[in-house]
Amino acid sequence: MKRNNNELFREILNVEDAAYVFDLNLFENNISNLYLAFSTYYPKINIGYSYKTNYIPNVCKSAHKKGCWAEVVSDMEVEMANEYLDDKSKIIFNGPVKSFDSIMKIIENNGIINIDNHFDIKILNDITSTHNFQKKIQVALRLNFTYENSKSRFGMDFNTLNELKIKIRKSNYLDLIGYHIHLPFRSIDSFKFRIDSLINILKLHGNYPLKYINIGGGFFGKISKDLAISLGLQNPPTFDEYGKIIGKELSNYFNHLPNSEWPDLFIEPGSSLVADSFSFITKIHSIKSINDSNIITTFAARHLLSPTNKTVMLPVELISSNCDSNLNSSVKEYNVVGYTCIESDIIGQLKANAIINEHDYIKINNVGSYTIVMGSDFILPQPAIYLFYNNKVENIRKKKTVSDILKTFNC
Ligand SMILES: Cc1ncc(COP(=O)(O)O)c(C=O)c1O
Repeated sequence: MKRNNNELFREILNVEDAAYVFDLNLFENNISNLYLAFSTYYPKINIGYSYKTNYIPNVCKSAHKKGCWAEVVSDMEVEMANEYLDDKSKIIFNGPVKSFDSIMKIIENNGIINIDNHFDIKILNDITSTHNFQKKIQVALRLNFTYENSKSRFGMDFNTLNELKIKIRKSNYLDLIGYHIHLPFRSIDSFKFRIDSLINILKLHGNYPLKYINIGGGFFGKISKDLAISLGLQNPPTFDEYGKIIGKELSNYFNHLPNSEWPDLFIEPGSSLVADSFSFITKIHSIKSINDSNIITTFAARHLLSPTNKTVMLPVELISSNCDSNLNSSVKEYNVVGYTCIESDIIGQLKANAIINEHDYIKINNVGSYTIVMGSDFILPQPAIYLFYNNKVENIRKKKTVSDILKTFNC
């Protein structure tokens, strides 16, 4: 028998005070829609799923099942990708801090290394100068550009880029396959800036094969009207708009070549795929009034829901068990707050005319990006995670316990 989401959520809250819920069907659809949007405008498209955004095994493994590569930025994420990937060559290694050992792993598996700085090249030289090194290593150069006066600390300026290009081309072991650019902006205009800046660099690439172009991540995903209002967004771009601005410009640029000679285009989405695939559900702990303000205290908290943005009010939904006979005559406004002792731990606001009781619960959508990976055991241990898939529900991470936390200390 098909159960509705509300029944499934209530089932979870029979055993938990609060939990994250991962909607796997929604995540898979997001991946399909993003592929479709980009492949409409550019024929050779690859998605490198950004592990840092949410690296829980079910997320990464399903991204790989749908054909995504792993986009990783640390030793830890390299190890995770080696666990999750069947084809271990489908890995892009980004980031400003790469160790000798993790670079070695990427080389062994024939992955791609996006060079951010001189230190990456130094490690590569140390590796390739060991005697009987035989391989060709696929490297790309991360570009540094300033958009709207916002200087980036990643990648390389024009002079460093040229210096490293010469070094790489002299090496028998390094194969410069292309370029990478990522900036912390999500607007269409900023993506036009990325692609124009990249094309200016491509014009100086010279007469060498170009196999790889990586335009980074940072796309908006599907955003509800309420969230768009909270974030002050008028019309967040759609996947199709991103695909069009990037794919069309690149297609025009490579038009003089046969398709077989066009480079692979990589994108590195995280939030746009995973944010709306996660919701947070919480029981109501208590309701109180102070003077004329009403407060619903929950088992949620700011640091579990939006650790990178602590000021935006999140849309919160009250799921009421009340039928019409239990309506208040007047609509009341509530602040929905977290369990912490932080004064500003106010999650969002809602209006209700139902009499709220202990069978009601609160739901917060769009909490899949940079939440679980930045999780902490502040005041309470981190909550459980449940998976929704084909109308079934399964626990995929137990709620942490005090003993889990105490075990990590040597005393
Ligand atoms: C290089 C790179 N790629 C991809 C991403 C993923 O961004 P998002 O989760 O916003 O899509 C980031 C995020 O900072 C990044 O720095």
